[in-house]
Amino acid sequence: MQLQLRSAISHLNEVWAIEAGGVILSFFANVLPWEWIHDSARWTYDESRHCRMGYERLMAWGFHPGEIPLGTYIYESASGEEPIYLLGMLYFFETKNIRHKSARAQLFHAYGDTLSEHDMDFDWADETMHAGYGKHWLQELLAVRGQDAEAYNQIRERCGKLVSNLVSTATPEEVTELRKVARALLAKAVRGST
Ligand SMILES: [Fe+2]
Ligand SMILES: [Fe+2]
Repeated sequence: MQLQLRSAISHLNEVWAIEAGGVILSFFANVLPWEWIHDSARWTYDESRHCRMGYERLMAWGFHPGEIPLGTYIYESASGEEPIYLLGMLYFFETKNIRHKSARAQLFHAYGDTLSEHDMDFDWADETMHAGYGKHWLQELLAVRGQDAEAYNQIRERCGKLVSNLVSTATPEEVTELRKVARALLAKAVRGST
């Protein structure tokens, strides 16, 4: 149940990816070729479907929107950075968890939770394509700037560092608050399943 809940909450939190996708689509529209607009629009649309899947799943379990935590650290990690780091952040998150996704879809299948399995399958297929977008367009953007296209991985690494730096600033009070919210969600999920 923890994994089912966590997966739905993480899908809902992809609202961050929708907003980041829209911002970079617009920001690089005049710098990159037409295919960028096509790919980033598709990317943004896909993320909105992932977010919607999480939202629908949580509502079907009887949660209300106000009960569901939305993380701010993903937004905050890239704030104050050049927009190329927003593209880098999307690429970082696309590639960070991808290896767990097909295993999780199989677990949901084993639980008989076909909706979570369906959602995870969709997510996994899309994210594989998005990881390709991230790498390709980071390379293109670096090339347009006259920089080494192979430095795309350094951008990804810096994004990982920005995220872990921000996460490490969490105060004990914030962690306690988060645990409280997580416990309340789990308690409600348990009540709903019995
Ligand atoms: Fe996604
Ligand atoms: Fe994605």
